[in-house]
Amino acid sequence: MGFNRPSKIQETALPMMLAHPPQNLIAQSQSGTGKTAAFVLAMLSRVNTARCQPQCLCLAPTFELALQIGRVVERMGQFCADVKVTFAVQGNRVAPGTRLKEQIVIGTPGTVLDWCFKRRLLDPGTISVFVLDEADIMIDTQGFCSQSIRVQRWARAPRGGNRGPGNRSRGGNGGTWRHGAEAAAALAPVGAAGAARG
Ligand SMILES: Nc1ncnc2c1ncn2[C@@H]1O[C@H](COP(=O)(O)OP(=O)(O)OP(=O)(O)O)[C@@H](O)[C@H]1O
Ligand SMILES: [Mg+2]
Repeated sequence: MGFNRPSKIQETALPMMLAHPPQNLIAQSQSGTGKTAAFVLAMLSRVNTARCQPQCLCLAPTFELALQIGRVVERMGQFCADVKVTFAVQGNRVAPGTRLKEQIVIGTPGTVLDWCFKRRLLDPGTISVFVLDEADIMIDTQGFCSQSIRVQRWARAPRGGNRGPGNRSRGGNGGTWRHGAEAAAALAPVGAAGAARG
């Protein structure tokens, strides 16, 4: 891939993103400094390929960005056998009752919300990593802020059944910011903790 050493934001954020137990992280750095590569690596490292079900959920503000992140997952994921990605975006028609096998789901807020609540294609009990890319844009965009918060709350909600506290070591929540620390503050009430700025 031509990656010889981590960028500054990667050097700072990766140890937190790969930590056990998982931690929440908000990262802010200039465009092109490697944030996407960092959270993609974190998602790939958390996937259990023995389980063919969604485990990482990533929200992006646009269809194009979701596909772009997917391409990075595929590029970096070529070194991880059996990792699959699917897109929760408008136009991706999934038959009712389908059991998703892909471990990484990338989508836009409206469609992801639909997949979570209406179509029930996603089960919060299997999601261990939640990523909100371009969170500042999400928070500034009418509708996306509340949709993203609903998805994030859904993903981290305690489960019924036999998921006792011992089973609830949820993965990290992550957000990436390009501008404005106020955006970080806006997400803080829904569970993101800590901030890293490049
Ligand atoms: N450690 C690294 N070494 C070399 N190249 C890298 C490294 N990390 C990322 N890159 C490359 O740098 C470019 C920008 O990376 P990336 O898209 O992850 O940045 P970003 O911070 O998410 O940018 P944006 O803010 O525009 O979303 C990509 O082409 C990526 O492959
Ligand atoms: Mg990016």
